[in-house]
Amino acid sequence: MVKKMDTSFTWTLMDWYRANHRALPWRKDKAPYHVWVSEIMLQQTRVEAVREYYKRFMDALPTISDLAAAEEETLLKLWQGLGYYNRIRNMHKAAQIVEQELGGVFPCGYAEIKALPGIGEYTAGAIASICFDVPVAAVDGNVLRVMSRLKNDSTDIQNAKFKKQIGAELTALYPQEHCGDFTQGLIELGALICGPAGQPKCEICPVAAYCQGREQGTAAALPVKAKKKARKKVEMTVFILHTAENAAEGQVKRTAVCKRDATGLLAGLYQFPNVDKKMQASEAIAQAESWGCRPKDLLRRAEYCHVFTHVEWHMTGYYILVETMPHAFQWATDAQLAQEIPMPTAFGYFLQ
Ligand code: ADE
Repeated sequence: MVKKMDTSFTWTLMDWYRANHRALPWRKDKAPYHVWVSEIMLQQTRVEAVREYYKRFMDALPTISDLAAAEEETLLKLWQGLGYYNRIRNMHKAAQIVEQELGGVFPCGYAEIKALPGIGEYTAGAIASICFDVPVAAVDGNVLRVMSRLKNDSTDIQNAKFKKQIGAELTALYPQEHCGDFTQGLIELGALICGPAGQPKCEICPVAAYCQGREQGTAAALPVKAKKKARKKVEMTVFILHTAENAAEGQVKRTAVCKRDATGLLAGLYQFPNVDKKMQASEAIAQAESWGCRPKDLLRRAEYCHVFTHVEWHMTGYYILVETMPHAFQWATDAQLAQEIPMPTAFGYFLQ
């Protein structure tokens, strides 16, 4: 018989969290700015990758008013490589609201936090419980996986009703204080013990006694998650137009870039000139000519596939040495590309 999931579960998990959690940079204090930034970064990115981004972000923008006052391009550059760039745009808007409408004070209630741009139920629950001791659950995919196993429930974890029900069940288990330790205990359990890939480590799980999935032998097969529709595939040709092969002495190498539309995928970031079709080398040279670039030499060709949530870009890149710099493009130096110009990973690949 498994134990009933009551507040003894809560205390068992919290005790384990306190003794075993990872020392992560955003766990050093409970400042809402720190927890907020880290939770947004962690939404689509692994902890190890977030560490470096988080440090760089906090060095550049140590307070919420620094974030509110920052230029959008500075923010996109700090976010470069994390993807889902609307996350940082929304954080920018939210910081401006906190500064201009809330007297510079981050709100402390769940509803007020959730009302800020880009903050949904999960993030609001995480900030409210970790920073302000509000007894409210933060349910993401990891917590849903853990709960599916604990309850031996094979409902699709993408089902909104299931998520709501898990949120309510967990909220009822919250302690009166130290709520953040319970929230982070669930997160940590999902990361260290009850992980997504392969076998959950039931033999060292602190809450194994409560787990129906373990008792029934179903834990490793859970959670159930319905397959998504196949992604759309797009063929593209990308032009890396250089004015020199290398930045030699007395000669500055410049590369053509242009800004993407203000809406849609990778909005407002930079890209290399490109067309939505796969071209052979001769066709690519003719395309560069049509832009007024006067191609001199085809230096090399590279293939790269970038997978987004709903679309895959199958890109053929041509590195072409050109003699003229038409105004249709901006011509960036290597230093500008490295330090100033926000270039998404899909195109940044061609800079390696
Ligand atoms: N994933 C989501 N939130 C997290 C947190 N606060 N610490 C570690 N991993 C997380």
